[in-house]
Amino acid sequence: MQRLAYKLFPTLVHYCKEVLSPQELDLIAKHCLAAESGTHAALAGDSRSSFSLNSRLIDDLDSQYAELRGLRARMEALLSSYAADMGFDDVKLTNSWFNIQHPGSVLKHHVHTHSKIAAALYIRTDPESSKLFLENPDPTLNYIRPERFTEYSFEYAHFAVAPGDLVLFPAWIKHGSGFEPNRSAMRLVVSMNGE
Ligand SMILES: [Fe+2]
Repeated sequence: MQRLAYKLFPTLVHYCKEVLSPQELDLIAKHCLAAESGTHAALAGDSRSSFSLNSRLIDDLDSQYAELRGLRARMEALLSSYAADMGFDDVKLTNSWFNIQHPGSVLKHHVHTHSKIAAALYIRTDPESSKLFLENPDPTLNYIRPERFTEYSFEYAHFAVAPGDLVLFPAWIKHGSGFEPNRSAMRLVVSMNGE
């Protein structure tokens, strides 16, 4: 007999570490903490965000600080390289914004509309910060309880993120903080879209 095994419908995630230096992280954190922000529908509890479809945080950082010159090109190169592996050519960095969370706040699960690629760049986190949860796009897995979870039956995956980490994933993958409220004094993330 012949038996073939197909790994159908996998989800590609790029996880890049030490994307920014400690000095770059400090400068970005200082900028975000001083910047204007408001609320975001995906955030509940003690939190704020500079989100809008027109926000261009990465562009602003690149143009305002000599120490961050070239940041936009670096981020766009990582984004477009990931997008190319996904089969999307000529993907550009579009909007970018920051989210700041304090203890007890929750990032509700959501997708990034108006986008092909979503990226999260972690600026300030510690071991008490809520993790990044990515949901398996097969919604029926909520109702299945296998004897053991395998790469075919995980309901979700999570990442304990650290400052300087960049996570790239499809914009249609539902993500958030799972059932975990944030516990750290500060969880500061820069989010980016690629289109
Ligand atoms: Fe998001």
